[in-house]
Amino acid sequence: MGNTQPTPPSGELRATGTLDIKDSRTDKTYSVQILQGGPEGDTATRAMDLRQIKTSPDEFGMMTYDPAFMNTASCKSAITFIDGDKGILRYRGYPIEQLAEKSTFLEVAWLLRNGELPAQPEYDKWVHDITYHTYVHENIKTFLQGFRYDAHPMSMMCSAVAALSSFYPEAKNIHDPASRDISIIRLLAKMPTLAAFCYRHSKGLPFIYPDNDLSYTENFLSMVARMSEPKYEANPIFVKALEILFILHADHEQNCSTSAVRAIGSSQVDPFSAIAGGVAALYGPLHGGANEQVLRMIAEIGDPKNVPKFIDEVKGGKGSKLMGFGHRVYKSYDPRAKIVKKLADEVFKVVGVDKDLEIALKLEEAALNDEYFVSRKLYPNVDFYTGLIYRSMAFPTDFFTVLFAVARTSGWLAQWEEMLNDKEQKIARPRQIYVGYGERPFASKLTDRFPKAK
Ligand code: ACO
Repeated sequence: MGNTQPTPPSGELRATGTLDIKDSRTDKTYSVQILQGGPEGDTATRAMDLRQIKTSPDEFGMMTYDPAFMNTASCKSAITFIDGDKGILRYRGYPIEQLAEKSTFLEVAWLLRNGELPAQPEYDKWVHDITYHTYVHENIKTFLQGFRYDAHPMSMMCSAVAALSSFYPEAKNIHDPASRDISIIRLLAKMPTLAAFCYRHSKGLPFIYPDNDLSYTENFLSMVARMSEPKYEANPIFVKALEILFILHADHEQNCSTSAVRAIGSSQVDPFSAIAGGVAALYGPLHGGANEQVLRMIAEIGDPKNVPKFIDEVKGGKGSKLMGFGHRVYKSYDPRAKIVKKLADEVFKVVGVDKDLEIALKLEEAALNDEYFVSRKLYPNVDFYTGLIYRSMAFPTDFFTVLFAVARTSGWLAQWEEMLNDKEQKIARPRQIYVGYGERPFASKLTDRFPKAK
């Protein structure tokens, strides 16, 4: 083996066999191809191959019914590989554990987009370009001032990213690689600035401009925390922790927000608008918003001695879910959660143990030994411990998901561009199975169509 590089994947699906389907209504048998991706890729059939299955020529043909996309591949992708049963996560073939230990966030962002690790000159240019696009138009400041002091930072983020679209109308040229390039650089560069500005607005603090001498994460921390000091020096353990957390959150294949970005992007809108949609999807408590909910749940539990009662309430369906537990894809320990738990230990060694760590550990122990959670394969996900780290870095609870959004922008953009370059992709437009009324004549129940407001 040595240093020999593996052959790059073809990126195409291979036909590996056929599947025979017998229609009991007609006694006809149809043969559909079985397709497979890379060596570890899953198998699938083309849903369109089912369309030939019908009882008469004027029938529409068979579809698949799959609410919440439980078993439907919406695309082929060469970016992220997850084996949910084994707890494996890789970006472009590289194990997440190795990337978290040895890489930087911007190196990972390059890797996600380009498929290979950058050579030094490529990396230098990438870092330079992102560093020099961190400033946002001054009007963005005025725009943010319009929000109330207690506006949720994710609401502000979502609107601010969407607003960027109006500053860069040329970003609509999504089929021009140069236009895509500058949009991607702008988005990666400006997300930390927008995030930090949202934070400063909610604290009533003046906005801090980017400092081009600092690294991506140092600059972000400077824009968040700098007060009157001429040069901000971030705590190195915070810089390291944030870099690792950004890497862990960079991509996660076809999750809710990434699917949203792909679906919105498939209408050929500009990437700023598509990413704003991703931020909106991430905001939800079942997705990125879970990290915020974990701390709210822990605060509600209040004391380690209340954990058994809380677990009983979750199981009895009386309380909420156990936030930070469970995952659509992972049916074993989320590999990111393992790294985060270790990272939390390192951060707590420096800043002191978070007061709620004991509750979190007790919750984890209780759930991992409880038949309800074991039988449903519910394990801690990435969000279970991230909140405790963020809080020890003095980030407010409602800001946690914003940190997630900054990191995930790298994955959203890589997935968006992959979708645009995929010749098989078209505007995303799922089918439905209509279960409503048949045709019926209109018969209004109104006696007054334009009543005066009372
Ligand atoms: N606590 C208690 N029970 C749970 C939990 C939980 N956290 N998660 C799932 N379950 C139960 C469900 O009630 C269901 O039980 P049932 O079979 O008796 O009805 C069973 O486990 C299967 O759960 P589903 O809801 O069908 O799983 P799904 O794949 O749809 O949901 C999700 C995945 C949304 C992540 C879910 O586990 C959840 O809500 N977790 C809490 C929120 C959370 O931590 N989200 C972050 C996910 S990671 C991320 O997005 C970055």
